[in-house]
Amino acid sequence: CATESHAYVIFGATGNLAKIKLLPALYQLHCLGYLAPGVKILGCGRTPHERDGWRDEVRKILSDSGTGTGSCLEGFVERLDYLIGSLQDAAFYQALGNWIGTGECARNVIFYLSLSPGLYVPVTVGLAQAGLLAESNGWRRVVVEKPFGHDLQSARHLQHALNTHLEEEQIYRIDHYVGKESVQNLLVLRFANMILEPLWNRHYIDHVQITHAETVGLEGRASYYDGHGGATRDMIQSHLLQVLALLAMEPPVSLEAESLRDEKVKVLRSIRPLDITQLASHAVRAQYAGYHQEAGISPGSHTETYAALKLYIDNWRWRDVPFYLRTGKRLKERRSMVAVRFREPPMQLFQGTGAATVHPNWLLIGIQPDDVVRLEISAKVPGVETRTRQISMDASVGNPGERKADAYEDLLLDVIEGNRSLFLRYDEVKAAWSVVDPVMQAWAEDEHPPLQYPVGSWGPKAASQLFGKAGQEWRQSL
Ligand code: BG6
Repeated sequence: CATESHAYVIFGATGNLAKIKLLPALYQLHCLGYLAPGVKILGCGRTPHERDGWRDEVRKILSDSGTGTGSCLEGFVERLDYLIGSLQDAAFYQALGNWIGTGECARNVIFYLSLSPGLYVPVTVGLAQAGLLAESNGWRRVVVEKPFGHDLQSARHLQHALNTHLEEEQIYRIDHYVGKESVQNLLVLRFANMILEPLWNRHYIDHVQITHAETVGLEGRASYYDGHGGATRDMIQSHLLQVLALLAMEPPVSLEAESLRDEKVKVLRSIRPLDITQLASHAVRAQYAGYHQEAGISPGSHTETYAALKLYIDNWRWRDVPFYLRTGKRLKERRSMVAVRFREPPMQLFQGTGAATVHPNWLLIGIQPDDVVRLEISAKVPGVETRTRQISMDASVGNPGERKADAYEDLLLDVIEGNRSLFLRYDEVKAAWSVVDPVMQAWAEDEHPPLQYPVGSWGPKAASQLFGKAGQEWRQSL
């Protein structure tokens, strides 16, 4: 058997995530030389495939998407194998055990649960009963996708069930958003530079906006989205609260996993509980017009496709600085960004001089599609009059021709390398559920349907009322 023998076992290999993210990411890692020769990739699913048929299918997926070509593609498909079986069936886990090997020849294995969350526990139990999680011969790691539970209580149950069979070090809770280059860049911007830190607090920052706007709708995921999702669960509890944590955390002692996660969890725990009696001034939910006509949506569903929250972080650095988070489907543009608005100068020296206007300073950080950093500052308009206008200092993060890695490439490599910095610790997940749970519960008990917004708009008008300050609004563009 090969000396360095790792395996990726993908449960749900014929599903959407595997097709559009996992296999392309592993393919890129292969082509870039990050996968050792002994790394094998086993797809598991209920769809019948012989090994060659599966290889053909993956070859087609990668070449149709324009990513896979030539010898790289051929080298990659050589790594692939397939195992059919029912996840409820002990015989399947026996067959998996045979594939993994035993004794000296056992592989180090990553089990990637690209499955509906209801299957995380049965699969873990199946693996455990077949002895496949024991690390006596090689390491065993389990990657679970978000959402980790669908509220605080179910997250607790899930954690308990996983912990019965796995050590915490074996669990990789993935949040692909954290793997995005532009999101990791938040750490670099903050902690590899000195110029931001003196300003990065309640004395200089008026408020922070975090936006994730999508033009897409449900993309065939109605049963997940309408049953267990909604914008708050699907995006805010995980991705947007992670962005908030990275923006607001204190400098970690190192980039080592526990240091980073210690600081993130402190931020999440400092978020002031929302006042449910005043919910409308802190949280807005809405549905795009026509949501009920989508296939698979239950009649009268109140699931929100748009959510906006105004949060406060009760700590020394951020007390009373609002953090506005919003996300929605079928909005006007696909745009994710952070917008930091600075306070105004204590005296408006230029206000009385002709047509001068005061512009606030903004720091804008594009997450996608534009990976840019922009600082907006005031400057004098050339001419004899003293007028001011806003100019921007712009930087594109990448250079022309530089390839941006997909979030999954980075994260899948981290699992092989055993680097858990970008994966969520259970206490982070728990703290994030504690933030959104009361809101979701209040909405669940509210008999009024969510507000509606037209497809192609920026969401409901009521979301602007969260600001409650003259002249303040959502920043729609970079
Ligand atoms: C996923 C959500 O986690 O993130 C989706 O389930 C959402 O609903 C997606 O569309 C957004 O991430 P990205 O990377 O596609 O912008």
